[in-house]
Parts: sequence; C-alpha cells; structure tokens
Amino acid sequence: ARLVVLVSGSGSNLQALLDAAADPAYGAQVVAVGADRDGTVGLERAAAAGVPTFVHKVKDHAERADWDKALTASVAQYKPDLVVSAGFLKLVGDDFLAAFGDRYINTHNALLPAFPGIHGPRDALAYGVKVAGATLFFVDGGVDTGPIIAQVVVPVTDDDTEETLTERIKEVERRQLVEWVGRLVRQGWTITGRKVRLK
Ligand code: GRF
Repeated sequence: ARLVVLVSGSGSNLQALLDAAADPAYGAQVVAVGADRDGTVGLERAAAAGVPTFVHKVKDHAERADWDKALTASVAQYKPDLVVSAGFLKLVGDDFLAAFGDRYINTHNALLPAFPGIHGPRDALAYGVKVAGATLFFVDGGVDTGPIIAQVVVPVTDDDTEETLTERIKEVERRQLVEWVGRLVRQGWTITGRKVRLK
C-alpha cells in the first residue's frame, strides 16, 4: 500500500512509519512526504530515507483554496491508499477532503473529544486530568472532530510538566500510529457514520 505523509515539524511519527515500512511484511511504503513549510526535520528525515518530498506554503497562494488545490494535486500524483497527517499543522480544505476524505488520518496528542487544537498536553494539564493520551482519527471538516480509529491512554503524574507529558504521550502515540496504519492498509476499513471498522 502507498502512504503519503504530511508533516510540519520534527517528524518523529514519520520516522516511526519509515522504520516500520522498511519491513516488507508491514504492507505499506511511504511514497512521498509533503510539508507546509521549508526546513523542517520531517523533510530531512524523508530525504535521508530517499523518499520524494514536496512543499506547499499557504502564503505562496493568493487564496487558501488555491493552496488546498495545489496540495491536493501533489498528493494525488502519488496515488496514495492512505494519507497520514503526522504533526501537519494545517487544516485542509474542501478539495483535499473531496479527494482523500475517506483515507486521510491524523494523530492528535489528547484523548478526543477533550482538548482539540495545537496544545493538547498543555490544555490537559491545565484542566487537571489524571489520564491523557493520543487519538488516531479520520479527518473531517472540523478541528480534530472526525471518526475515531484508536486511542491510547497514559497516566498524568503530579510532577508532570508540559514537556514530560508531551514526551510520554508521543511514545505511545508513535506505536499506535504504526500499529493502526499497518492494520488499516493490510485489512482495509469501513466508515459508517462515526464507526470505523477493520474489514
Ligand atoms: C504529535 O504529538 C501530534 O499529536 C501533534 O504534533 C506531534 C507531531 O510530532 N499534533 P512529530 O512532528 O511527528 O515529531
């Protein structure tokens, strides 16, 4: 199966997928990596693995819809079976969702529907929750609102800082992403309303 991965940042989730895909039994290959900015570590990881990359910046387009069209066209060129947002910090638009809405997944570092947005661990700590975690889901038109594929829980400790909790979540988040991307591509999936099922 063909994976296109979108990144904005350090790309540790991307790296986990690249490492898993090195084993043919995994059943998926990262065929391209896209980003919304230059110079991210994620793009360097892709280059180091010999994976082609593309960059589309919102500010290079007069309208955000034009950026979305350009992104959609680049992703489509690689004919992905699954598109993975791995720390991609842009909301895609209508064209992208029309093309990939049934096969575009994102990983979020909180237990949705609690703490959507870009500060999941910070917001969870501020709220005083005792467990936190990561959520893998199919992207829809909202912010972290789509049908949930899987969730994983970690404890919150009394001495946690945003950094320690973020790191604890990221470890399990990576494993969850790798496991479920493998299952999805090997088994196939159905989405009925909000229910995601492996075939
Ligand atoms: C992940 O924890 C994800 O939940 C959040 O950003 C992080 C991406 O990290 N949105 P990386 O770029 O894969 O290292």
